[in-house]
Amino acid sequence: MKRAERAPKAAKALPAVAIPVATTTEQHPDIRPGQSIALLQELHILTRDGKLNQDSRRKLKQVYHLVQFIEPLLEQVLQDHAGVTLVDHGAGKSYLGFILYDLLFKNLQNGSHIYGIETRDELVQKSQELATRFAFPGMSFLNLSVAASTGSTLLPQQIDVVTALHACNTATDDAIHFALTKRARFIVLVPCCQAEVASVLTKNKRQALKNNALIGNGLAELWRHPLHTREFGSQITNVLRCLQLEAHGYQVSVTELVGWEHSMKNELIVASYKNLPRQRPSERLQQMLQTLGLEEMGQRFFSEQLAGATAEVAI
Ligand SMILES: C[S@@+](CC[C@H](N)C(=O)[O-])C[C@H]1O[C@@H](n2cnc3c(N)ncnc32)[C@H](O)[C@@H]1O
Repeated sequence: MKRAERAPKAAKALPAVAIPVATTTEQHPDIRPGQSIALLQELHILTRDGKLNQDSRRKLKQVYHLVQFIEPLLEQVLQDHAGVTLVDHGAGKSYLGFILYDLLFKNLQNGSHIYGIETRDELVQKSQELATRFAFPGMSFLNLSVAASTGSTLLPQQIDVVTALHACNTATDDAIHFALTKRARFIVLVPCCQAEVASVLTKNKRQALKNNALIGNGLAELWRHPLHTREFGSQITNVLRCLQLEAHGYQVSVTELVGWEHSMKNELIVASYKNLPRQRPSERLQQMLQTLGLEEMGQRFFSEQLAGATAEVAI
């Protein structure tokens, strides 16, 4: 069912806060000069008495690590045109959006904007209120699903950077679809678990084994224990996502996100649009789908039409 579009409600009038900023890293070596202490407190990264506990230090480390990857991408966009537009899908409490804005966007004054897309209304409201209270005019939060945001008129046509950090299940795939439709220059993904591919793998096991030589070389074992099939499905999903991005002219890098050592979901995929040749990755993608009996997922991971449209536009 298509989610109705709702403009963000006007934030309630809240008392203005004095915004202490870090002037030195002496007190908090983890906090950057100029960073808003009050914002970090509101995000519950710093406690009310200004302390940083183990959990929040880890969270901050994770976000900084991502910021480190995103900052040079923003610089590249800004070399091209003034004002960068970033959409963060499955924003949650918007740690990433707020810290990015505080560190890199708030002094730009060039129309740059961060949009947070999130289906949980209370989180959207809270983030919008926070942005108003901290006078961050270049931040908006929309109560939309990632899929619905692709056609939403509440977002501009041109989006430079798309991020999706642990966006649940197929929301990462919707974020990729969003980015390809918007012809985003950069896409930064830390995928969550995805159950869809594993369920199709399980459903089509017999056909996959009949179709090819997997059974002969022992790979049928991948289907023996459901847990292995699920994990295999998760890995395959990311392989297919990378091929899909390459099949749309992107250069893709895959690394580990530090600070997420406790989580299995620590794969960082960064895609940069380079207008690269698409044929070979498209063929590889089709081969993988066929080999694994996943042909019915062709629509999820590839769109001829989108690839054609993207090819015509040099970004
Ligand atoms: C695991 S949290 C991650 C939040 C944030 N990105 C972070 O890393 O701290 C996933 C968030 O995505 C939201 N979400 C899940 N599916 C979504 C969808 N299809 N469209 C928009 N938001 C979605 C959830 O409500 C949740 O807040």
